[in-house]
Amino acid sequence: MSVSAKTVVAGVAGAPVRHSLSPLMHNAWLKAAGIDGVYVAFAPHQDHFKTFAEGLRGGAVMGINVTIPFKEQALALADEASALARAAGAANLLLFHEDGRIEARNTDGEGMLRAIALQAPGFDLLGGPVTVMGAGGAARGAVAALLEAGVSDIRVCNRTLDRAERLVEDLLGFADAAVVTAFARADLAVAGAGLVINATSLGLNGGPGPDTPWRLAAPGAVAMDMVYKPLDTEWMQEARAHGLRTVDGLEMLIRQAIPSFAAFFGAEPPELDVRTLLLAAGAGG
Ligand code: ATR
Repeated sequence: MSVSAKTVVAGVAGAPVRHSLSPLMHNAWLKAAGIDGVYVAFAPHQDHFKTFAEGLRGGAVMGINVTIPFKEQALALADEASALARAAGAANLLLFHEDGRIEARNTDGEGMLRAIALQAPGFDLLGGPVTVMGAGGAARGAVAALLEAGVSDIRVCNRTLDRAERLVEDLLGFADAAVVTAFARADLAVAGAGLVINATSLGLNGGPGPDTPWRLAAPGAVAMDMVYKPLDTEWMQEARAHGLRTVDGLEMLIRQAIPSFAAFFGAEPPELDVRTLLLAAGAGG
């Protein structure tokens, strides 16, 4: 990779950021596309993210992806935000416009939907209820994206019911035609579901996912796990044992990067097997 006076700079900011797979992915795309750009990792101090991001006003850096723990702050400091980012309460993408404006977007939900389309081909997202396990930031992003995609029956299932209720309340009005319901009991939430999404942190680094009564899901249902370490979680293995198709979190990670790349570098990423590249670099291990 050669860096010139015209090189377009973008990156990712997080704390910690050392394990981020984004630089590997974006730089591989840049190289394959022959774009004069570079994608770096920034590790601003936990207490100074706002100062860091404000300092990028004006577009010397085209934009950054934002990861844990800065996604909420990223939304708060932006001058404008997409409806999806506002509904999700978080941004994973900041764009620094030449006139000084900072624009926030959230592409996580789009990544999730693209991953489902790819790994569960033919699945009809609008064909039945969708159950989201969890009520944290990841679940909020998923529900917002499902609403935007037109899903009309969403069940949010969480160990702590009032957190699920708060999520539902916050997203009321984002899509008037939809019904979003909070549950603490998985049997009620999963009955008849066509898609079950694990948006909890359970299963991360191994071990069981959230208790899911798979036999109650609709025939032909799909299970999507946002956890990507391990790649093939126990939760996904259980789902497959009950006849469901599964979609993994690594594909979601790859797919959320596509709209970011397009926003930074003005072109869709080229055809490239970044999944194999990420796995070779230890993703999912
Ligand atoms: P994120 O922003 O990544 O979604 P989070 O806000 O910490 O992370 O949310 C973690 C989610 O995993 C929550 O839904 C949490 O449930 P609670 O709201 O009841 O805490 C869920 N979770 C974490 N550990 C859990 C466990 N042992 N059993 C059930 N749910 C759990």
